Formats: sequence, C-alpha cells, structure tokens
Amino acid sequence: MDRQSITQILRKHSSKLLSGLDHDMSCVFNMEHPKIFNIQIIIPQGEYIFSVNTINNLSYNGEITIYDLCRGRGLGPRLVSVREAVCVEAGVERILINHNTNPSFWQGQNYVPLSQSDIDLLVDDVFLSDMRFKNPVYKKLR
Ligand SMILES: CC(C)(COP(=O)(O)OP(=O)(O)OC[C@H]1O[C@@H](n2cnc3c(N)ncnc32)[C@H](O)[C@@H]1OP(=O)(O)O)[C@@H](O)C(=O)NCCC(=O)NCCS
Repeated sequence: MDRQSITQILRKHSSKLLSGLDHDMSCVFNMEHPKIFNIQIIIPQGEYIFSVNTINNLSYNGEITIYDLCRGRGLGPRLVSVREAVCVEAGVERILINHNTNPSFWQGQNYVPLSQSDIDLLVDDVFLSDMRFKNPVYKKLR
C-alpha cells in the first residue's frame, strides 16, 4: 500500500460518507516511514488528523475538531466513520484513541477502554514509544 492508494481510498470513502461537504483539501502524507500514513480529513466545519500504520496494523494519534458553531450536527461522527472505513480498506484493524480528552464522545462511538497490560504492550512498540496516553480507548474494526 502506497500513498497514492491510500489517497484513493480516502477520496472514495469521503465522497460517500461526507456527501454534501467540501472535502477537497483532505490529504495523505508520509513523515516518519513510507508505510506510516498521516491523514488529514479537512472540511470547512472542522478536521480530523490521524496516523495509519500499516506495519503494526494500528491507527493512532488522532486529533478531531469540529469548530464551535458547527457542533451538535453529527459531523464529528461522520469524520470518525471515514477514518474507520479507510482503516478497514487499508487492512488496519484497530483504532486507538491514545490521548482521549472527551471520553463520553468516544464511548458514544463504541470505543472501549484499554487495559493497563494492553497499554504496556503498546509502549513496547518501536513506533509508539513516544506516544501520549490519556484515558486510552480503542475499537477493533473486524
Ligand atoms: C467531539 C466533537 C468532535 C464532536 O463533534 P460533533 O459534530 O459536535 O458531534 P455531535 O455532538 O454532533 O455528535 C456526537 C454524538 O456524540 C455525543 N457527544 C458529542 N460530544 C459529547 C460530549 N462531550 N459528551 C457527551 N456526548 C457527546 C452527541 O450527543 C452525539 O450523540 P448522538 O450521536 O447519540 O446524538 C466536537 O464536539 C469537538 O470538536 N469537540 C472539541 C474537541 C474534542 O473534544 N475532540 C476529541 C478529543 S479526544
């Protein structure tokens, strides 16, 4: 899987799940490794940035924001659904919300808490060693 393939996957799911919203500015780039993708879903009302790591099959380091006046219309959950669809098609089975400052939101999206032993395993992962953890939750996609 390369950047071009992930970009096509992102466009396909954004067109379906974000219909009626301008998502042309969304993009995919690689920073640390050619198999780790940094994805930015950008709409006029907010954005969602996250990493998709196709080496350890994990997506992490997400930052989601819907701007104040646009909240409460279900746009946040729509961005979350794009991330999930992109991960499934890229073969990445788990999404980790490692820095969780809104636990009730993630609970509403069916993300579940991570045990301390799972956290201990994750911090041993070479790609995740400097990751920030706060109230971590995750979803297994299949
Ligand atoms: C969290 C955020 C992305 C949600 O986006 P949104 O488009 O406003 O989401 P909505 O409120 O329309 O829908 C989210 C659903 O979760 C619920 N929800 C959203 N925020 C919630 C909160 N803080 N507490 C409880 N429930 C919440 C809504 O009731 C709604 O539930 P429903 O689907 O059963 O109706 C947005 O509020 C935001 O940008 N917040 C500030 C940044 C933030 O918290 N980011 C996450 C940090 S890990």
